[in-house]
Amino acid sequence: MMNNSIATPDGRASGSVSGGGPFDPADHLAYGRWREAKLSGFPDAIEDLAVAVVDPARVTVAERTALIERIRRANMAIYRCGGASVDRDALRRLGQALGLWRLDEHLCAEEDGISQLQVSEGGHTGEYIPYTDRPLSWHCDEYYNAPDGTIRAMLLHCVSAAAEGGENALMDHEMLYIALRDAGSHYIEALMHPQALTIPANTQNGEVIRPERTGPVFSVDPVSGALHMRYTARGRNIRWRDDPVTAEAVALIGRILEAPDSPVFRYRLRPGEGILCNNVLHNRTGFRDDRESGHRRLVYRARFLDRVAET
Ligand SMILES: [Fe+2]
Repeated sequence: MMNNSIATPDGRASGSVSGGGPFDPADHLAYGRWREAKLSGFPDAIEDLAVAVVDPARVTVAERTALIERIRRANMAIYRCGGASVDRDALRRLGQALGLWRLDEHLCAEEDGISQLQVSEGGHTGEYIPYTDRPLSWHCDEYYNAPDGTIRAMLLHCVSAAAEGGENALMDHEMLYIALRDAGSHYIEALMHPQALTIPANTQNGEVIRPERTGPVFSVDPVSGALHMRYTARGRNIRWRDDPVTAEAVALIGRILEAPDSPVFRYRLRPGEGILCNNVLHNRTGFRDDRESGHRRLVYRARFLDRVAET
């Protein structure tokens, strides 16, 4: 059983997750065992995460097994489709083959729940950075959702690439957890505090589109026992808990994400390729489309309330 943290009078969380296990800041034994297994299985290069999938609408048992094996190790996989052109329905079916049944109904998703990320010319989507060619800073998707809208997995499928740029960096949030915990379990306690991170309400023309959301950065999924992360590197419109350990932890996250020796994978998706992951940390460089030569970046994005099935 997991218990929420209880803040002590000096404001520090006292054991944000109790009951043992690798994500309980007090259970050093379980953490040590889990850490060793995680590090020994973690891939050295992103190529180790690539799986050829002939037709995503009809994933074979061998392809499915290969994808799950990558995702178990690194919470992410790259799939490469064969010649068949891939439509949105095929991506839905690819998700379903991996246990991803519940699509998020996002503000900008089309009716089938899959968003089409492309530089928009006018329209409301143009206000959101994912629909522009500007860089996107480090985040996990939908860090501003309510707990019942937690995004546990997502898929990015490249239909066509930009003329230049549009590379993703990806970091398994469990690897970030290890880096932080090795620096001090008090950082984990601070980041598991239920008031660690607040995203103020999204208000447009005086209307509240999304209320303020407060919650932890790291939490443990009560059903699967998996570690979940809620994070954005954005500096504006965000409130961290006013506490020195939280401030140190946040600064440390920033340094880890930028350190040259961190296990960050960089990958520029080619047409027909996609990323399937348990909502790991990611960012995207800016890019340049060239309409005349037909190099216009188009990425389909699906977000799921489920995690990738591990069996
Ligand atoms: Fe994202």
